[in-house]
Amino acid sequence: MSGLPLSTDPNLIAGMERAEDAGVYKLSDELAIIQTVDFFTPIVDDPYWFGQIAAANALSDVYAMGGKPLTALNIVCFPIKTMDISILKEILAGGVDKVHEAGVVLVGGHSVEDPELKYGLSITGTVHPGKVVLNTGARVGDRLILTKPLGTGIISTALKNQKADEATVNRAMKSMAALNRKASELMQETGVNACTDITGFGLLGHAAEMIEGTDTGMVIDSAAVPVLPKAPELAGMGMTPGGLQRNREFRQDMVEIPGEVPGYLADILFDPQTSGGLLIAVAPEKADALLARLHGAGVEEAAVIGEVVATPKGKITVR
Ligand code: CO
Ligand code: CO
Repeated sequence: MSGLPLSTDPNLIAGMERAEDAGVYKLSDELAIIQTVDFFTPIVDDPYWFGQIAAANALSDVYAMGGKPLTALNIVCFPIKTMDISILKEILAGGVDKVHEAGVVLVGGHSVEDPELKYGLSITGTVHPGKVVLNTGARVGDRLILTKPLGTGIISTALKNQKADEATVNRAMKSMAALNRKASELMQETGVNACTDITGFGLLGHAAEMIEGTDTGMVIDSAAVPVLPKAPELAGMGMTPGGLQRNREFRQDMVEIPGEVPGYLADILFDPQTSGGLLIAVAPEKADALLARLHGAGVEEAAVIGEVVATPKGKITVR
């Protein structure tokens, strides 16, 4: 969004000046609202699952800020002349079921006719102004916890090319449809220094946002990063989405990946995710307890994948 004119306002806690996950606006000393919107074309074949995934993805930006989502609005682009309306009903059913699972109320929406189907939601939530978790603020020594496995972009690309088996796709859909709610609640209870969710820019792209322009760098331990089953094989077969290469080119000056890291793994680290996990920077003395609580709450694949370092600042070193 760079290049757009920015709004300034004394009550704006998070706006467009940094690549934040959502806008946050202070209403009072006790209360701020969080607003976000996200919609996209189907990434899986099943309309009900697509609806669930789109909702989990939209809700995620509120969770990444440490907020509590309250209300949702549907956004629909639908080719009514060429597609059966039952497909839209399934998508909306998936969306509303996921929204309800999150304890959120669907309050309305808007639809337009469009040759290409798209669905998503705008979410409004709240947070205490003093408890907003920004994507910056990570401190040297912080451990980095990632709460979901990577590889959803590679698996959706394989699905489009009929190269992904059903079990692989089901596993990826489950991961994408899973809410980041528990992870968000536990990070708020623990007290953490920074958080973002992993979406279109991939793990390294969103990690780069956390340290860009700061006095810190990051080390990522590639072997510790959780990865969806079959994603390595499919990446090795060339099932990489176009966005992956763009993500790599965009951040190549900030990221150092030595030749020992296998090519498929480097691909996975840049793979654009849909409804990915939270990437949390937490003080080292709190990291083990948070990880144990995440595992105990069913966020089973959460893992410590690296740490925040003093040098080289503004760079991510993968090892
Ligand atoms: Co986000
Ligand atoms: Co977003």
